Amino acid sequence: MQRSRSTEGRPAAEWWRQAVFYEIYIRSFQDSNDDGIGDLNGVTSRLDYLADLGVNGIWLTPFYPSPQVDFGYDIADHEAVDPMFGTLADFDRLVSAARARGIRVIIDVVLNHTSESHPWFQDARSSRSSAHRNWYVWRDGEGAKRPPNNWESAFGGPAWTYDRVTGQWYYHFFYSEQPDLNWRNPAVEQRMMATLQFWLKRGVDGFRLDAVNTLFEDPELRDNPPLPEPRRTITGVYTQEFVHNRRLPEVHDALRRLRAFVQQSNRDALLISEAYVETVADLVGFYGDDNEMHLPFNFFLAEVPKLDPTLFRRAVEDVEQGCGGRWPSLVLNNHDIARSSDRHGQAQNGDAIAKLLAVLLLTLRGTPFMYYGEEIGMRTEHPASPDEVRDPVGKIFWPVYKGRDGARRPMSWDGGTGAGFTRGTPWLALSRDSTQRNVREQRGDAASVLAWYRALLHLRRGSAALTEGRYRTLGAGPGVFAYAREHGTERLVIALNMADARCDAALEGVSGSDWRVMASTHRASGEPVDPGRLRLAAFEALLLTRRD
Ligand code: GLC
Repeated sequence: MQRSRSTEGRPAAEWWRQAVFYEIYIRSFQDSNDDGIGDLNGVTSRLDYLADLGVNGIWLTPFYPSPQVDFGYDIADHEAVDPMFGTLADFDRLVSAARARGIRVIIDVVLNHTSESHPWFQDARSSRSSAHRNWYVWRDGEGAKRPPNNWESAFGGPAWTYDRVTGQWYYHFFYSEQPDLNWRNPAVEQRMMATLQFWLKRGVDGFRLDAVNTLFEDPELRDNPPLPEPRRTITGVYTQEFVHNRRLPEVHDALRRLRAFVQQSNRDALLISEAYVETVADLVGFYGDDNEMHLPFNFFLAEVPKLDPTLFRRAVEDVEQGCGGRWPSLVLNNHDIARSSDRHGQAQNGDAIAKLLAVLLLTLRGTPFMYYGEEIGMRTEHPASPDEVRDPVGKIFWPVYKGRDGARRPMSWDGGTGAGFTRGTPWLALSRDSTQRNVREQRGDAASVLAWYRALLHLRRGSAALTEGRYRTLGAGPGVFAYAREHGTERLVIALNMADARCDAALEGVSGSDWRVMASTHRASGEPVDPGRLRLAAFEALLLTRRD
């Protein structure tokens, strides 16, 4: 295993293997100044909550100056804080307050594009000979009539926008307000590296690299093949196969250079890539030869289309086998996809499902990434009509796809008018159920989703089998997904009944009377249970332990 050295010079195992990250969608987490928008000081004020919950890493979504067309993923200055989120001093305070609580801080970096209002783009569009012209992707079309090729934006419509001033088209994989940077220009890469350095010096522990799959485009601009009919994925709706503007091999060359650069500045810094891939081989590609990403996001669990043990088992095993010894990441939720409590339907069983999936997330081998509100079983709540939509993509594709607002509702802290999120008017309406489903209610309830997450996070921390142990699938019969985690003499088995019905199961190769409940959604801890003769309640999640 590769080892790195901590800043004190002590050898430190790769710290992120022991981490549980919590994604904070900053607009929606905690407002501190009554403007209805979450901010950095809001996050700082909730660090005690997060430490008590048991997470030891946070990922902050973009807080940089931005017109907020894509809610911060359209950056106008990479090395500053938008006044709506606070100041650089607030950021520094947040980082040191987090560190004091043993919480690492990862930030989002958007390498693929900037905002159209970024000074680089303002300069680029001012004339064909401007200093930053070649920082973006400009091409001739057929005058103003036809774009250079047939590429579509992932957010709908052509991926090219005609710019009258200079009479050329610029390329944008996302909104037209998010022009793509030209990664074939070394000046772009160097400037982005300087940005990483800027934040490393301010004490961040790593980066989530946004949308890296789309850094490069085919220089010949070959047309993409259209799909016979629109394809709906967990992140949106697509009308063509992005063959020539996504997943180009040059992406990996760039990631290797970024890794080398970051490593040389701070050997402990963590790099995570956001790249949706189709095969495990592609996922493995993002680790490189241990010289690209430490933790490519693994979205295969989030992409399982229904609550089905065979599908989850396959998603887990494919990654386990395909990744070899590499360390996986574990993701069920983020700010771009419907929440897992009700994603598979069965909203009436949302809490039971939330608890079951919590076990999956927190007991598989890998580094889990939670998403704010997951720990109270927040539901997806899509806008009821197009005029309620805040996320532009939800307006574009309405009603086929209602955008991402549904998973971005303000955090429900209490049952008050602003849900404890704000004393102002929330930028996005609160969840309808925030008066009952909130942190304050669940704190006092030992049977709540929150209590369950907290218990699991604490169990995980104390168990080498859960944090470092081997993974092994256990045959269990239909309806149940079961596996073992083993480290030294510590052995755990986990059984998940994904059906809304009681079921009997015999876990392959494990039986006997020396197994005890470590945690269960339905039984008391310590209770003896024979894994060879299980009777599981509907949606029961069971962790058994044996020390020998
Ligand atoms: C990533 C972000 C998403 C954003 C897109 C464009 O996928 O997670 O929220 O819209 O990149 O920056």
